[in-house]
Amino acid sequence: YENATTASKAVAKEISALIRVKQSQKQPCILGLATGSSPKGLYAELVRLHKEEGLSFKNVVSFNLDEYYPMEPDSVNSYVRFMKEQLFNHVDILPENYYVPDGLLTKEAIADYCDAYETKIEALGGIDLQILGIGGNGHIGFNESGSLQNSKTRLVALDHITRVAASGDFGGLDNTPRTAITLGVKKIMEAKRVILMAWGEGKSNIIKTSTEGGVTSLVPASYLQEHNNATFILDKAAASKLT
Ligand code: F6R
Repeated sequence: YENATTASKAVAKEISALIRVKQSQKQPCILGLATGSSPKGLYAELVRLHKEEGLSFKNVVSFNLDEYYPMEPDSVNSYVRFMKEQLFNHVDILPENYYVPDGLLTKEAIADYCDAYETKIEALGGIDLQILGIGGNGHIGFNESGSLQNSKTRLVALDHITRVAASGDFGGLDNTPRTAITLGVKKIMEAKRVILMAWGEGKSNIIKTSTEGGVTSLVPASYLQEHNNATFILDKAAASKLT
């Protein structure tokens, strides 16, 4: 796409069409959602479609990919807060229908919580459409380099490069969380449709590596080469190194 705005509108169009198909079938629409800068334009367009074109989110159930750990839900850097500000507070999704991993759990409670997160997704029939961004190291969700293709939802240590990228939001590296809870690669790969979005020159090297390089755990986004319905939606700058 020429730019991130037109690209984001195209993704919003696909999501709204899916939500409407599911509505006509009286089915819930299960969305996997990401945070970060990449999906902001998408969420703005979904809000516009709700306000101006009557798109309802009443049949949407969403599962966010990740949350820093530990994290207070109302902290400025919390992903629950991000989602409320960017999307949930501006559309008619039911509060009981969106899930963001809980950053307040005790360490002992995390494993069972992560299993239950996956069980809930499975009980709803799996993720219909998963939105992803990509980290400079090729992470998807917070599945950092070395994450296995069958990895489960779990507590992970964040890569140094991920922490450096986030450190501006936290007022320096020392204040940046070292761990996060992330949906595992397995559930991402089980999604019926996957859309990864990336904008800007800064993403161009990792886009080339993850799509034209080999499939490797060092670059978890490369696993998507083996997904049968995954698309990378890019602006010109992010696509500029592709052959
Ligand atoms: C966020 C997430 C991360 C981001 C990635 C890119 O929920 O799972 O994988 O998608 O770090 O972040 P941005 O979009 O800020 O470049």
